[in-house]
Amino acid sequence: MPRLKLGVLISGRGSNLQALIASCADPSFPAEIVIVVSNKSDAKGLDHARAAGIATAVVEHGGYRNRESFDRAVHDVLVGEGAELVCLAGFMRLLSSWFVETWHDRIVNIHPSLLPSFKGIDAHAQAIAAGAKLSGCTVHIVRAEMDAGPILVQAAVPVLPGDDEDSLAARILTMEHKCYPLAVKLIAEGRVQIDGDTAIIDMPGDTDDHIISPSVR
Ligand code: GAR
Repeated sequence: MPRLKLGVLISGRGSNLQALIASCADPSFPAEIVIVVSNKSDAKGLDHARAAGIATAVVEHGGYRNRESFDRAVHDVLVGEGAELVCLAGFMRLLSSWFVETWHDRIVNIHPSLLPSFKGIDAHAQAIAAGAKLSGCTVHIVRAEMDAGPILVQAAVPVLPGDDEDSLAARILTMEHKCYPLAVKLIAEGRVQIDGDTAIIDMPGDTDDHIISPSVR
């Protein structure tokens, strides 16, 4: 079966990109990365892609007169490489409605909170400030509104007494690296059906797993 072709957009560290690279290295994984695009030439994630022999492109937004013209340049790179699904992996730019509509239901994003709670750039600080006892991460289909769209996969982690942004971010990041490959796998296997603002996932069976925080002893 042909593997789903991914275009991954990054702006920085690229640890989620690295998790996708690691999953795609398994020949039985149903997707492959055909291009990594960064809007920053010094993004660390570019090194992960190069080390894995994956094509990279830098499209710096400073060179474009507005958001849509930048997005059209990114689009041209993605189409040129045959990308079928766009994965935002720490891509810290809002996309134009033109791009979101052109790639309708074919853009996924990862965000470090249990959406729809705590949208935006300071999700960990928001969770701590709210006194949340659980937070986590969400992989979702992208809509024009920031950090919104049909939810594909979520993982929850406890927010522990004494947590600061860094300790909570580290706990969530471990889950991000599991959730992003899982979401891509579900899409590639045709197990995701988008119904308006929600995603229906074809999953065998059900579990009675649960998480209570603080845990009951
Ligand atoms: C990740 O924690 C991701 O969830 C977050 O940026 C980080 C990128 O890390 N994305 C957002 O906050 C999007 N709203 P990475 O470059 O190591 O993958």
